[in-house]
Amino acid sequence: MEKLLITHQLPGERVKQLAQTSDVNVWMGPGLLPAQALAEELQGSTGLVCLLTDRIDEALLDSMPALKFISSMSVGVDHIDVAAATQRGIPVGHTPGVLVETTADATFGLLLAAARRMAEADRFVRQGSWRAENAWSPDFFTGKDVAGATLGIVGLGDIGRAVARRAQGFGMDVVAWNRSAVDVPGVSLVDLGTLLGRSDFVSIHVALTADTAELINAERIAAMKPGAVLVNTARGGIVDEQALAQALSAGDLYAAGIDVFGREPVEDDNPLLHLPNVVLTPHIGSATAQTRIEMADLAAGNALAALAGEAMPHCVNP
Ligand code: DGY
Repeated sequence: MEKLLITHQLPGERVKQLAQTSDVNVWMGPGLLPAQALAEELQGSTGLVCLLTDRIDEALLDSMPALKFISSMSVGVDHIDVAAATQRGIPVGHTPGVLVETTADATFGLLLAAARRMAEADRFVRQGSWRAENAWSPDFFTGKDVAGATLGIVGLGDIGRAVARRAQGFGMDVVAWNRSAVDVPGVSLVDLGTLLGRSDFVSIHVALTADTAELINAERIAAMKPGAVLVNTARGGIVDEQALAQALSAGDLYAAGIDVFGREPVEDDNPLLHLPNVVLTPHIGSATAQTRIEMADLAAGNALAALAGEAMPHCVNP
């Protein structure tokens, strides 16, 4: 029987089928499989089912000559050196599609929360600051309108389009930048500079690759419309966090809604942590129980196909 490492217990039924066709080693925790333990646990395995928290680099692949496939329970594969896997003939599976609506909901939640200062208001109530001398007044917790505002979507893939649909329902004008031409009803395609200069809200929906790393750098942040809001549920590495924090504390940008960070879990000295006008969530864009089951099912399905010697249904390097 082929040896398979699963780096975390996964939800759903499909994953159980893996034990029928392979000798499965599941990391039982506590917590995530530590990076130092990954090489040890993976030794001799022909298959790996991993999470986006597992870093699969070239050195690791070099030390695993038996490895034949990788199936990640994530749509993003920036934690895997896909080029190195491809060179070694190792297919990399991922989980597209099933997290689209869930991630779009989280994106829109962050957009609304940042516009209407929801997290700041929540802290205000909890910490007992809501008193007669500090209560409803014409300018009390005033935020920024969403209806009638322009949303700029950076990357008009499945999630970008799902965010566009929500925005249209909220009465926003939607513009988008996408690498290739796409036709989405009611969405005007513009170049990135135009999008940044015109949008009251900017939401990031590109994958993290060598081309998109720090795509939203200091220069592009400076090119954003004064008082705009940035939302990122894609990957932290796409945005220069220092430059974003500076623009937010200088008041050049109004607010941000951030689900993803350059380093996760976020480090204590991340400048975004100390700004009142940033709504922060811990990479939970796809976090509903049902979506996580569907992601696990797809990851298991990819692994089952590879174990059977077939092509993975969802492979990034066919
Ligand atoms: C993914 O699957 O890449 C998402 O970031 C998970 O939330």
